[in-house]
Amino acid sequence: MKFFVDSADLEQITDLNNIGLVDGVTTNPSIIAKSGRDFKDVVAAICALVEGPVSAEVTAVEADKMVNEGRELCKIAENICIKLPLTLDGLKACSVLSREGASTNMTLCFSPNQALLAAKCGATFVSPFIGRLDDISLDGLELIADICTIYDNYGFDTEVLAASIRNVNHVKECALAGADVMTAPPGVIRQLAAHPLTDKGLTAFLEDWKGTGQSIL
Ligand code: G3P
Repeated sequence: MKFFVDSADLEQITDLNNIGLVDGVTTNPSIIAKSGRDFKDVVAAICALVEGPVSAEVTAVEADKMVNEGRELCKIAENICIKLPLTLDGLKACSVLSREGASTNMTLCFSPNQALLAAKCGATFVSPFIGRLDDISLDGLELIADICTIYDNYGFDTEVLAASIRNVNHVKECALAGADVMTAPPGVIRQLAAHPLTDKGLTAFLEDWKGTGQSIL
């Protein structure tokens, strides 16, 4: 499972990258707004930080304008991935940009049928939003499982990029379902390592070691 960081916080991305937990980065207009930085500047900085794909979202809603914005964003760096909304215009832009060799990420996916369309339009990634479905008492993880089944049935190349991940259980369930990628905020990624019994066991080990009076170095 590839880990993408869902953030534009360069320090947080760097810290996780130094651990070896960053295979890519995803952003969206809300994340960019939260960063308080110039869109192209912060995306360029992220692209220089990580080797993997960096998703940057178009803001036009008409296909031809999305294509123009996508071509402009592709100039930023080799590892740019163009994020497009799962609308008919977004799908049309995806078909054009994918045929031109651009990496594409169809976002705001909330149904298996939308994911089916993304695959048929040659999307590199599809981003089903788990948390936002859970927020309205629907089953976001069921969507991930359904898309994985459909993609496996037909051997689609499009990768399932589980998004809108809010907690460590989402990550576990996405891994069990076979999602290719998960993108999560830095805090959720860090939380994956946490377990009280690990802390308790380490404390006990170190206490016992201290009693030996020995040192390794
Ligand atoms: O990349 C999509 C993700 O940022 C959306 O997450 O928590 O705003 O639903 P959220």
